[in-house]
Amino acid sequence: MEKLVLAYSGGLDTSCAVKWLIERYGVEVICFSAFIGETPNRQLLERKAKSAGASKVYIEDLKNEFAESFILPALWAHARYEGKYPMATALGRPLIAKHLVRIAQKEKAKYIAHGCTGKGNDQVRLEVGIRTLDPSFKIIAPLREWEFKTREEEIEYAAKNQIIVSATKKSPYSIDKNIWGIAIEAGILEDAWREAPESAFVMTRPPAKTPAKPAYLNIGFENGKPVSLNGKRMPIVKLIESLNRTGGRYGVGRMDQIENRLVGIKSREVYEAPAAVLLLTAHEELEGLVMDRTFLHYKRVISERYAELVYDGMWFSPLKQALDAFFAAHQSKVTGFVRIKLDRGNAMVVGRKSPYSLYSEALATYGKGDTFDRKAAEGFMKIWGLPYEGQGASVKRKKP
Ligand code: ARG
Repeated sequence: MEKLVLAYSGGLDTSCAVKWLIERYGVEVICFSAFIGETPNRQLLERKAKSAGASKVYIEDLKNEFAESFILPALWAHARYEGKYPMATALGRPLIAKHLVRIAQKEKAKYIAHGCTGKGNDQVRLEVGIRTLDPSFKIIAPLREWEFKTREEEIEYAAKNQIIVSATKKSPYSIDKNIWGIAIEAGILEDAWREAPESAFVMTRPPAKTPAKPAYLNIGFENGKPVSLNGKRMPIVKLIESLNRTGGRYGVGRMDQIENRLVGIKSREVYEAPAAVLLLTAHEELEGLVMDRTFLHYKRVISERYAELVYDGMWFSPLKQALDAFFAAHQSKVTGFVRIKLDRGNAMVVGRKSPYSLYSEALATYGKGDTFDRKAAEGFMKIWGLPYEGQGASVKRKKP
């Protein structure tokens, strides 16, 4: 029997997919679950997959690899899609693609399958990721193929086949979560005019319910990597989780945007990403302190392109890799501390310092000890303004 490796979440869709794939394609199904968010109930997940007919279940905690090899490069790139979304989901998919390929190679499988629908970006990220790494697998997307039209039909199918499904009530939204943030979509959020109800949020409090007293965070970076929080060194995953908790308590990191999907649809997305917003803010601030204007302004342009590449499923592409090298080039200078004040949904940078700081109080001051050569400024103005002299005048020009 040919083997198939399925990206398995334990939800209704992928549970039905196990059985459906066995029936439709006559394959042996091996499930793979990556954990990059909450810690799983391994036993339950395995029981569920087996009840649907899986022959084997891989459950792997990949949070550390996710943080080191996917989040960190995106942090260095200041990657935000369309100016806001820090791309938790878009970063998680290539990691899943990579491990699907690894397991499928190890198991000598012929097929790889996933539970993405035909309307989203995630199918693109997984399939392009898989094909970039190893084009020999045949990819199957049951949700694009099968006959079930409603959730009820899937529940019926699961019951008929003794597939264990969660007893917990299904959220009225479609949710995808990992340590870099959470995406909340569908349900009543599809009405783009209607404000997301408080119950839609998972990680953050509304600003009105945040602590009355502001809190201060001191985030320490070494060579571009966040390494400490309020003086305490900690591994990057712990640091991100801690920032999610504190930031969430202060209502930081909520976003509500109309987003342009790669497949041409505009979608209304609600995101929560406290740690991502805090770390992006802090890293940008520190890099802004240690790098010069020309570099910083150029970087903004390619940051946007980088975010598009990641969003569009091109994580393993040559251009994306080359841009990673660009962003990594000066991270050794991004060393120091950033102080952020959390106050009712706001995260405001209130201090920054670095041994590589280019900020000079002596040059910037309007007070005593000024070392800036004001006389030289006059000559600079003359030459800088030369090409533009008279060009904005409303007076009629002389005939040539
Ligand atoms: N629109 C976001 C993106 O494309 C979030 C997708 C969330 N995925 C999901 N399966 N619910 O990255």
